[in-house]
Parts: sequence; structure tokens; C-alpha cells
Amino acid sequence: CGIVGYVGPRVDGTALDVVMEGLARLEYRGYDSAGVALVTPGGSIAMDKRAGKLANLRQALESNPPPESSTAIGHTRWATHGGPTDRNAHPHRGGADDEIAVIHNGIIENFHQLKTQLLADGVEFRSETDTEVAAHLVAREFAATGDLTEAMLRAVQWLDGAFTLLAVHAGRPGVVVGARRNSPLVVGLGEGENFLGSDVAAFIGHTRMALELGQDQIVTITPDSCTVIGFDGQPASATAYEVTWDAAAAEKGGYPTFMEKEIEEQPRAVADTLLGRTDAEGNLSLDELRIPEEKLRAVERVTIVACGTAAYAGTVAKYAIEHWTRIPVEVALAHEFRYSDPIVDERTLVVSISQSGETMDTLMAVKHARDLGALTVSVCNTLGSTIPRESDAALYTHAGPEIAVASTKAFLAQIAACYLLGLYLAQLRGGAYAEDPQAVMKELHDVPDKIAEVLRRMDRVKEIARFMADTRAVLFLGRNVGFPVALEGALKLKELAYIHAEGFAAGELKHGPIALIEPGQPVFIVVPGPDTPHELHRKVVSNIQEIRARGARTIVIAQDGDTDVEPYADEVIRVPHTMPLLQPLLTVVPLQVFALHLSTAKGLDVDQPRNLAKSVTVE
Ligand code: G6P
Repeated sequence: CGIVGYVGPRVDGTALDVVMEGLARLEYRGYDSAGVALVTPGGSIAMDKRAGKLANLRQALESNPPPESSTAIGHTRWATHGGPTDRNAHPHRGGADDEIAVIHNGIIENFHQLKTQLLADGVEFRSETDTEVAAHLVAREFAATGDLTEAMLRAVQWLDGAFTLLAVHAGRPGVVVGARRNSPLVVGLGEGENFLGSDVAAFIGHTRMALELGQDQIVTITPDSCTVIGFDGQPASATAYEVTWDAAAAEKGGYPTFMEKEIEEQPRAVADTLLGRTDAEGNLSLDELRIPEEKLRAVERVTIVACGTAAYAGTVAKYAIEHWTRIPVEVALAHEFRYSDPIVDERTLVVSISQSGETMDTLMAVKHARDLGALTVSVCNTLGSTIPRESDAALYTHAGPEIAVASTKAFLAQIAACYLLGLYLAQLRGGAYAEDPQAVMKELHDVPDKIAEVLRRMDRVKEIARFMADTRAVLFLGRNVGFPVALEGALKLKELAYIHAEGFAAGELKHGPIALIEPGQPVFIVVPGPDTPHELHRKVVSNIQEIRARGARTIVIAQDGDTDVEPYADEVIRVPHTMPLLQPLLTVVPLQVFALHLSTAKGLDVDQPRNLAKSVTVE
């Protein structure tokens, strides 16, 4: 979501203009609804919020202009809890006289418990969002303290999860209070005016002096002051810096392309997708699935339907879900599934995977499965989109908006969500686990940091990509979960760099494709960790030898400490250790970075490759 806050010197309508301009620049962060709240000099809050793009809100404000004001907050939303409707749009109000307005970015993990308590205290809720809980808490604490900063400080003590919150009070014109934990918040320092934003794009048109808040800090801005304290109530400091980006770069968080930004956001995308999905004991709790447990226990087969990158996430999921649950899993391209004669009944769980939730091929497959009596679950990144609405249940990925046409962070989030589903099924069905779901979850929670580590090591991959700008064909090999990673590596290269690329199961090579190997042919090999069962590591090392002997140039993705690959590798790209089934979350990253930089080296449009569309709504 995108967040803007403003306090200015004059009462001449400036606040609304500043906030609307900021929202326009932040719209890339989410665009399913938008809203503003203004504190009027008369001591009330004027608010408007609308589902849909920012243009809807702008139109509403033009036909019904709010009173002039110098204090405002604004929000552009990417729904996580509660569909994209007018009611669920931010700001949310709290207090006996609706005196508080709050906007939020992030996920409040424990909002269920908090909402139950607040409902028991007689508080009325007007939306399905987690945010509204924060609005009521700030209002309650304001009633107790009479101070907005103090109210925010007390309110955040109740909240778990990731959040940036901004609050205003009807009786406090000239004050905006913000809080941040695990979600971004930057202060813009002006002369006689101050700004808050989820990133500098929000205020870059007005000031270049910024203050980056630290973790667990609260900031209070007035027209001529900016005070920072920690969640412990003690004064805290934040460092000021000058923003050197221009406005266009600011929208991309300083990255030259959305795809680079989205690749860098992958640790966050995976962490947010895992957030709030385990209970205090470490058990998976996916109550959002809303399918009776006995129905899930009775599932006899799983069919995954998806297209493109999402289908490769499905193939990773197949290996994991079968291993953890012993339920047979089939992966079908949605358009093939729909027009075949699939074996599906009420004991079949059909899992669709789609970033957009609008891909027509996938939607048709889901409708077909539902007509055949299957249970349908949608793994989706876009709340309120068509596929989750047409499914029995949804398990959302929380990757945030993906703007670049070719998918990156949504892919990792899809894999993470499928792991959650597999482990949840394993937990529900009990019995002899191949692996303890809790142990896997523990390992999975460490993966975001390891993705960040992979991203820090990408200099050599970028160099290799630049050297290979004239390459005409590239092959990718992998086994087990490394196989879909190879397929995705090839797809990224086709999509971004228009280079002929093929992914193969490494064991299949000798049955045909090895004829393609000629001296100098670049081949990427995704090597499973040495602890992978069935001696797969040794087998892949043999596959590398076979192609090296025929002159291939081998670029090997291997785990830290795996020295067996060195004699046969022209290049080794290292990733940290994790469990064999979780490795795709790490091994695919260098392949994404490679494709992106090869595309850049060729001078191509990374974000909008030719002939492709982000969401394909025709069959
Ligand atoms: C399009 C995009 C791909 C994407 C596929 C599935 O073809 O170009 O990047 O993987 O659709 O999209 P979905 O939104 O259903 O995940």
C-alpha cells in the first residue's frame, strides 16, 4: 500500500493537493482503492474513500470538495484482509464521535484476537480489515490519554505483525502521528510543512530532505517540528539524508526498473506470505481457507492448474506436497486441463495458482473443476480478483503489487504459499510425516534472510550476463525441484531477453537434448544440495561432467561448501544451505537476475517485454 501524510502552514486546500499528488506517485504500490482524511479547522474530520483506481477518488472529491485544510492523510490500497470495496478502503475511523482516522500498510497478525476483544467491549466494526482494529485502539488510548502520540504509543503495544500506521485526530489540526514496524515510513522535511510517506516518491515534488525512521519508532509531525520516539517511549534519533533520485526513479524506489525492485523485494514477499500463518505453538493455522477440515482430510488427489510462471510454482509444489502428505499431485497447464477429460471428483482438491487472479485460462479451468464437483482453492496475489471469488477458498500470497510483466516476486510467494498448503494438509491428516511440519516451518522462516544473502552475491551473475549479450541459445538443467527452477530460468530468458532457451530435467538430457551441446554452448545447472535424498547430488554432478566433456560452458548453481562441482564448472554461483525441498526459493534468484541483466545489456524493455501482457484475459 502507499501512504502519505501532510501538515502545512496554511489553510488553503494545500493539504488535499499535496496528498493527492503523493498518492498518484505511490499508485504503483497498490491500486485497488484509495482514500483521504482531512482535519478541518473547525475540529472535524472530512473523509472520502473509493474502491478502484485513484481516478475514482479524484472524481468524487471534485464533485464534492471537502473543506480547506492544512492536515491530511491519504492511502492507496493493495488489499490483504477484506476485499477492495469502498468500506474496506482506508482511512478507517475510530472513537465515539469518529474523531480518529487511521491508515495502514502491512498486516496486523493478531487482529482476530484484538477484534474479538474490541467486539466484546461493544465496539462496532464497519469493515473486514485488520486496520480498523488499529483505529479503534488508537481511539481508545486517546480517550485515556488525550494525546495522539501517547495514544499511538500505547496502541502499537497491542499489535503483532508488520505495519506502518498514520493517525489524525479531529481536535488536533496540525498534527499527524506515524508508527513503523517492519514496514517502511519516511519523513519529508519541509519549511513550515512536513510530510510522511511509505517512500520518498510521496513528497519528492516538495522536498528532498528526508528522515528514514528506524524499526519500532513513532514520529509526530507538525508544520515546524518532527519528533521521534521508540516503541519504549524513549526519545529516539533518525538520520536525515538528501534524496538524489528524480521523481521517476523514486516511484521505483531508486531502481531503474520495476523488475529490479521486485527482485529485491523477494525476501519481504516470502516473509509476508508466511506471516500470521502459524499459531503460538508453531502449528500451521490456515483458518482463512474456510473449507471444513473433514473435507480436506478426505482429499485423495490434488490437481494444480496454472499458466506460465505460476505453473512452475505448481511443479515445485508437487514435489513438496507429495513428499509431505503422500497425496498424489498432478500439475496441469490450465488450458490443457480445461479441454481434456480430467479425472476430478469431490475428493479432488484443485489448487489454482495465479498472481493476477484474472488469467482467463486458469479461471476456465477452475470453473470446470468446480462443475465437476472438485474442492477449489485459489493461491492468488490479488485480493478480490475473479479466480479467488470463483473458488471455494483462497490462500493469498502477500507479495504486494507486481508491476513488471514477467513474474518474479509473485513466483517466490506462490511457492511459499504452496508449502504452507502442503504442510497444513500434512498436519491435518496426521500420521507418519516424512518431515515434521513444524521443523520445515522453522527452516522456511529462515529463508527470507537467505534470499537476501543470495541477492548480495549477484555481482558475478550480472557480469556473466553482460558477457553473454550476444548468446543465441542457453540451456537450463535441474532435477527434482531443480527441474521447475530450470524451466523458470529458461522462461525468464525467453520473456526478457528474447533468447532461445530450454529447460530440461537433467536426467533426460542423454535421451535427446544432449545432441544440442556443441563447444561453447552455455548451460546453467541447478545442483541439489549434497544432503538431497536418492544421491541426486552425485547424479547431477555426473550430468555436468557429461556435457562438459562435449564442450559445454557450465554455469553451476550450487550450495555453499559443495566442492564436488568445482572440477566441472566454468562458473559457480553459490547459494546458502536450506532443506532440499525449499531450495527453489534460493536457486531461482540468480536465474532471474541473469535474465534481467542480459535483457538490459541488449537494451531491451525489462518491465514490458514485447508481445506479453501482465494478465491475459482471453483464452
Ligand atoms: C502471463 C504473464 C506471466 C504469468 C502468467 C500467469 O502470461 O506474462 O508472467 O506467469 O500470465 O499469470 P497469473 O496472473 O495467472 O499468475
